[in-house]
Amino acid sequence: MKPRLNEWVTFTPNKGLPIHNWFYYKEGFSAPLVEWAVKGFKLEGPILDPFCGVGTTLLSCKLLGLEAYGFDVSPLAVFVSRAKTRNYNVELLREEFSRVQSFEPAWEKPFPKELWFASRFNRSVLREILAFKEFFVNAFSSPVSGFFLLALIDSALRVSNVERQGASLRAVKKSAQALKPILLEKIERMMGDVRRVPQTGAEPFVEEGDARWLKALSGESVGSIVTSPPYLNKVEYASAYKLELALFFRAPTTQLRSFLGSEGVRMSSQVPIIDAYFEDMARVLKEMNRVLIPGGKAVIVVGGGCFPDRAVESDDRLVELGLNAGFELVKLLKAREIPCGAHGGLKGRTVRESIIVLKKQV
Ligand SMILES: C[S@@+](CC[C@H](N)C(=O)[O-])C[C@H]1O[C@@H](n2cnc3c(N)ncnc32)[C@H](O)[C@@H]1O
Repeated sequence: MKPRLNEWVTFTPNKGLPIHNWFYYKEGFSAPLVEWAVKGFKLEGPILDPFCGVGTTLLSCKLLGLEAYGFDVSPLAVFVSRAKTRNYNVELLREEFSRVQSFEPAWEKPFPKELWFASRFNRSVLREILAFKEFFVNAFSSPVSGFFLLALIDSALRVSNVERQGASLRAVKKSAQALKPILLEKIERMMGDVRRVPQTGAEPFVEEGDARWLKALSGESVGSIVTSPPYLNKVEYASAYKLELALFFRAPTTQLRSFLGSEGVRMSSQVPIIDAYFEDMARVLKEMNRVLIPGGKAVIVVGGGCFPDRAVESDDRLVELGLNAGFELVKLLKAREIPCGAHGGLKGRTVRESIIVLKKQV
């Protein structure tokens, strides 16, 4: 089959794939891309994704029988990656599900103070969410607890009065919906996937971590890398997912300096953020080089960034930084052009989204 890289660099193909579609992550790539990379470039395991997001690389590798490691600064991303890559016992899930079906959610306590977003929910729905969360955390053990919680996290956004739009949340008017039927339907769909997809294979190692400093990995400990870093000025992950983070986790503390206006990087002009991004990516490429075995390959999906007064391509710069970090270039493939869209001065402009394949010098 001819590779459809323009599609595969997006999350869209995952929407039709069991388990991959348990949590929609607009910034993700898709399973066919990982399979194409592994087979096409003869990637050896263990395979690392230092920006693992919701675990597309990790789950694909698990299903291909490859050992995999993943890191991400977002506790939400790490949680989702883990829940999608555990081996579940179908019988046990079925038994535990009957307890969920008969649970009557009741929340009598005051709302926790940090629930600044309470207005995003109908009060009775928020009570239901908090009661189910407490039930899943306290009454079930891992991995079943994580399985149900993932279904709850996904269902919570559906019953809120917001929608994700780019890097932020937009208030929308929806008719009040009860959580429980949506949640039960989601769990049933997930259980169907667990029945269809073999629940065997090595579970990937997934942990919160910063790709600039992969402290958990020693030198020359991974065979290959398949990854996609945040794009220059695209999504500020902590704010795009702040609803889930506040309800179920805490906000991540470290970010690549990729987003103009992100927490801690308030800059009056875009030039410093562009420089900061490439400085951070230089550090990431050095770290990738350190942990790879000699001759190990890194497949990196990256797109350029749009600013009000300029469009910045990232692929050439990353290749240059890769060469400086001790890689040689195997291939640079253009996947598609991304329109700059809303940035007025750049109407009609596009930036490239590319796949860079590097090899650590022997
Ligand atoms: C383009 S997304 C990767 C999506 C992934 N390929 C998937 O399919 O789900 C980039 C990810 O990098 C994470 N991230 C941002 N800064 C990071 C850092 N310094 N170290 C590790 N992960 C980081 C974000 O939380 C986000 O999940």
